Parts: sequence; structure tokens; C-alpha cells
Amino acid sequence: MALVQITTATELASLRQQWRSEGRSLGLVPTMGNLHAGHLSLVQEAKSQCAAVLATIFVNPLQFGPNEDFARYPRTLAADLQALTAAGCDAVFTPTVAMLYPAGLEQHTLISVPRLSALYCGKSRPGHFDGVCTVVNSLFNMTQPDAAFFGLKDYQQFFLLRKMVADLHMPVRLIGVPTVREASGLALSSRNGYLSTAQKQQAAALYRTLTGAAGELSAGADDYAALCRRAEQALRDTGFVPDYVEIASQHSLLPAAPEERSLVLLAAAWLDKTRLIDNILVERTGGLP
Ligand code: PAF
Repeated sequence: MALVQITTATELASLRQQWRSEGRSLGLVPTMGNLHAGHLSLVQEAKSQCAAVLATIFVNPLQFGPNEDFARYPRTLAADLQALTAAGCDAVFTPTVAMLYPAGLEQHTLISVPRLSALYCGKSRPGHFDGVCTVVNSLFNMTQPDAAFFGLKDYQQFFLLRKMVADLHMPVRLIGVPTVREASGLALSSRNGYLSTAQKQQAAALYRTLTGAAGELSAGADDYAALCRRAEQALRDTGFVPDYVEIASQHSLLPAAPEERSLVLLAAAWLDKTRLIDNILVERTGGLP
């Protein structure tokens, strides 16, 4: 079946109604476009769980800070439509800024997950997660999906969206899909497109560093601060300017206590003008139940 491109709320409501009358469950894959194999793995997962799959492509201005890359963020709609067609996606919704923010960004109602939004990436990107939660909430309301699929590369984003859905009793299942990586270990990201071939090789040091730190954690290291500062130094040694390396609890996303078993190592670092993020889950044996 050909991919249906939807640009208006009316068309969207009527397609949603059609799928509902056909008894088809809906899987939503929200994206900002410039699709790569990571996004397409979300489509595949959605197809395996739902009878209809709708992707959205919207570069959301509300989640970019004033000095960030909103203007230069890659917009590749024609290639994205081809990729979604090849992946067997049923439809794609491509709203405009005016549709999502009719009164302008300043006047828009915000959804904000307290405390956790200000940690890690939220520290250096104030307001970012409010922008993400707000737009995803609108996309949920407009599309009314049964399930929504997000990449776990953006671990903090996924955690916050899950909390938003639970706190606000939103009737949607959130599915986190594992990160897709280059052979070098570099996590796929639209921002990798800013990197030269040589920088892409260099950037693989981010995952290598996290893997090394994860190995130390699994082997019993429990001085988290020292481990994170060493990982930051290792990143500096490979040409990165680290934003942060932190160890959080998988249950609370708060900084982990030394006895905690289910951990997530989170990192963000700059390679020249490109900010990359990555994370790795670590299950320690021993410690608190
Ligand atoms: O992860 C992304 O691409 C974006 O943050 C999202 C979830 C599509 C919201 O704009």
C-alpha cells in the first residue's frame, strides 16, 4: 500500500476514524524527520505490534534553545517519504508550526515533568524536555494512538514521556526500542549528519568510553563520581568536550545510590559543534534488592 501523507487535522481525524471503524490498532512513531535506520526500526516495531502505523515528521521549535540548531536541523522530506514507503508505514502526518502552536510558542500551554527535566540534558538544555513533552502530548491528542514508539538512545526523553503518560493517565502504551548503532558503535542520530567521515570515526569513542565505564561498574566499581570524571577525561582525550557523564537509577532516573543494581550510564558530549548523546544500561549483581 502507498504511504498516505496527511497535512491537515481534518484529514488526520478522518483517517483515524476509518482505522477505528476497521478495528485497526494504531502505532505512532513521532519523529523530527531526516530518517535513518534507527527511526525505521521504530516503524518495524510498530508494525509488529499494531495494525496501522502512522509516523509524524515535525521539527519542533519548542524543544530547541535560542542558540541551538533549529534552523540548520536537517529537513529531508522527500527522502523521508521514500524511506517510510519502503518500510511499509501506512501514513505520515507532517503538521506545520502554526498547526501545533496556533497562538505562537510564547503563549502555548506547557507540559512539564518536574525535577527530572532539569537533570542531565535538561541542565544544559533548559526547557528542552518541556518542549518534547508538550509536542508529544499534542501529537497523542491529535492521533489517539494505542501505542507510541521511541528510541532508547534518548533515554531521558523516554523516561520523562513514560512519567508524563503515567502521571496524566494518558491511554497510550509507550514502547522503548533499542538504539541502532554503526559497526563502530556510534549510535545512529540525525545529528551524525553534521560530522565529517573522520569525525564519525572519532565519535565512536563516546560509546567505547561508556562501554568501558559500564564494564567497571559491572566489575563492582562503586565510586560513581570518580568513574564519571575518569570517563569525562577519556572523552576529552579523544577530542570531545564532555557535557556530562552521570550514573542514574533505571527506576527513578535520579543519581544512583552505590548499592543500586539497575543503572543507566548517561552521557552527552560535544565534538566540535555537534552535541551527541548516548547511554548504556548496566545490571549489577549484588547490592540492594
Ligand atoms: O526524539 C525526537 O525525535 C523528538 O524529540 C520527538 C519525540 C519526535 C518530539 O519532537
